[in-house]
Amino acid sequence: MDISVVGSGYVGTTIAACFADFGHEVTAVDIDEAIVSEINNGKAPIHEPGLSGLISEHAEGRLMATTEYTDIQDTEVTFLALPTPANEDGSIDTSIIETGAERVGEVLASTDSHTVVVKSTVVPGTTQEVLAPKIKSEAGEAIDIGMNPEFLREGTAVQDFLEPDKVVFGTENRSARIELQKVFRPLIDEVNPAVVKTGISEAEMIKYANNAFLASKISLINDIGNICKEFNIDAYEVADAIGLDNRIEAKFLRSGVGWGGSCFPKDVRAIINAASEQGYEPEMLQSAVNINELQPRRLVELLDKHVQLDGARIAVLGLAFKPGTDDIRNSRAIPVIDLLQQQGADPVGYDPVAVGNMTEQFPEIEYTRSAEEALTGADGAVVVTDWDEFATLTTEFSKMNQPVIVDGRRIIEPDDIAEEDAVYEGLTW
Ligand code: UGA
Repeated sequence: MDISVVGSGYVGTTIAACFADFGHEVTAVDIDEAIVSEINNGKAPIHEPGLSGLISEHAEGRLMATTEYTDIQDTEVTFLALPTPANEDGSIDTSIIETGAERVGEVLASTDSHTVVVKSTVVPGTTQEVLAPKIKSEAGEAIDIGMNPEFLREGTAVQDFLEPDKVVFGTENRSARIELQKVFRPLIDEVNPAVVKTGISEAEMIKYANNAFLASKISLINDIGNICKEFNIDAYEVADAIGLDNRIEAKFLRSGVGWGGSCFPKDVRAIINAASEQGYEPEMLQSAVNINELQPRRLVELLDKHVQLDGARIAVLGLAFKPGTDDIRNSRAIPVIDLLQQQGADPVGYDPVAVGNMTEQFPEIEYTRSAEEALTGADGAVVVTDWDEFATLTTEFSKMNQPVIVDGRRIIEPDDIAEEDAVYEGLTW
């Protein structure tokens, strides 16, 4: 098929490269010339395992990037993968995707058939009430609309896209559904995911429900983990046991300092805001957010029990929102650093890849090039990201001025800490 993907960000670039890999002819449209030329030169504009291989394989063949919206006229299906960032109040800002929808509508003015699929995460009603009228403004009923939410994770985007548990086709009619099925046919035949055929609003809601459920699952295990800590119980032993119940399942049961990233925080707030505008206040989801905000406070309080924080040098191990990425958006390290500063402490940050990004957020604090350097002379340490390399720390703790370690991710093995009189505290164990 001939497919265009508007927006070459995280999701757009990944799906464009993967569609080309399915055998489709793909046109990636982006207003950023640097991104366009990078893709055309066979390079990935973002770091994601497997992506640069796919782009370099297909760049001079089935994958072409352009800044020209008019190029979508030669395609059959267009995916809109433009950002929907958060407003101050948690609602989503649809201005970028609305502009994209308008331009798509303009260039498709004289088409006699085209399917436009919204890939971006948008609150229920947005596709039909806000975007579709713009997309159809000129060509009207010649255009069919679909909504196809994306469930890939940062760090495993290509693999998640190519091996999904499910694909969701939200469509307004049969012909949009058939087009989506044709696009995904190679994947459906090869990996046999569940295919959910539903309405457009349902597809929009499935994305929010999926993320809200997972974020709440983590907050629930964090709530239980906090109870465990009060009783001196190891929450990980409890989680391992309850995860054996296949109604609960073992994944996303790691308790600790909470969830971050560009999706869970934004999406949970957006759906709370959207529900609230309809007159419903979702109490469970609000609690999930509240617990997530509580966890960094509990981490710093736990440290405060052992360390006089005012004037203390505190190593902050891990700055990225999760391992495998340099993304610090909504990383739990941000409130941790804030809270430490409020207590008069001097946080010293270390992360294998995210120091550059965190320096923009906190230019005033010290950063080091190794965990060992951050620990040297420190009066305490907190672990915020579960990078594998922290699991191998042993003698490095002996370089601390005062070996107090509070682990927010269950990554340090306390028996491996070489220092005999070290204090090790797990946030929920
Ligand atoms: C998340 C979802 O997992 C994807 O399915 C979804 O497509 C994506 O959002 C999105 O909406 O685009 P992502 O934000 O990349 O993906 O990250 P996750 O791997 O889900 O981790 C999110 C946060 O939860 C991280 O801060 C992680 O440390 C935390 N987490 C995860 C826990 O605290 N405990 C766990 O057991 C699992």
